Amino acid sequence: MICTVSCRVVALSRDTVCMATVIRQGLEVLFTRQQIADRVAEMGAQITHDLNGEKLVMVGVLKGAAPFLADLARAVQVDATFDFVATSSYGKGQRSSGAVKLIKDLDEPIEGKNVLVVEDILDTGLTLSYLRKLFLQQHPKTLRIAALLDKPSRRLEKIEADYVGFSIPNLFVIGYGMDYAERYRNLPDICLMTPDHPE
Ligand code: PRP
Repeated sequence: MICTVSCRVVALSRDTVCMATVIRQGLEVLFTRQQIADRVAEMGAQITHDLNGEKLVMVGVLKGAAPFLADLARAVQVDATFDFVATSSYGKGQRSSGAVKLIKDLDEPIEGKNVLVVEDILDTGLTLSYLRKLFLQQHPKTLRIAALLDKPSRRLEKIEADYVGFSIPNLFVIGYGMDYAERYRNLPDICLMTPDHPE
């Protein structure tokens, strides 16, 4: 049986490329579920090491971070609790500096606690800069950031994640929590939309 798979090389950085594989019309996989699982396991091990046995509060930023938080939480071997926040979601083009608004606050105080903010993607940095400032006002013991994806070329605010899954160029990614008009969040792989996407 002959099986043809359509692939193309995508440059992630000057030194790194990956093979994007078409899975159906209009969608190609950039990072497979296995690559994600392997990287999340490594991030979990690093976070576990850095906590040195202390407790952790994992704060997911809704909605995109939900799958990443669920997997990362099971990869850290510490006593962890969850909390969630949500910020206003403007179209990126309309978002101006400082225009982030909190639409769901933390349920529990974080004073004196080790806090890990969990994000699917760090893009302009506006969301995480806003959240970092907000959370620091509560005086956590430590405040760290885990971002599965990082787009450093898009940054408008000076902020870096402490733990990054994959650094990518300015590609529009969907799947594993990330959406296109609320669709595709449940794709198990991180994908790109191709020009022949039906919509
Ligand atoms: C995405 C992502 C981050 C934010 C990053 O959320 O989940 O929260 O954008 O972008 P920034 O660095 O430019 O601020 P989005 O607003 O799309 O909401 P969602 O998670 O509900 O999809």
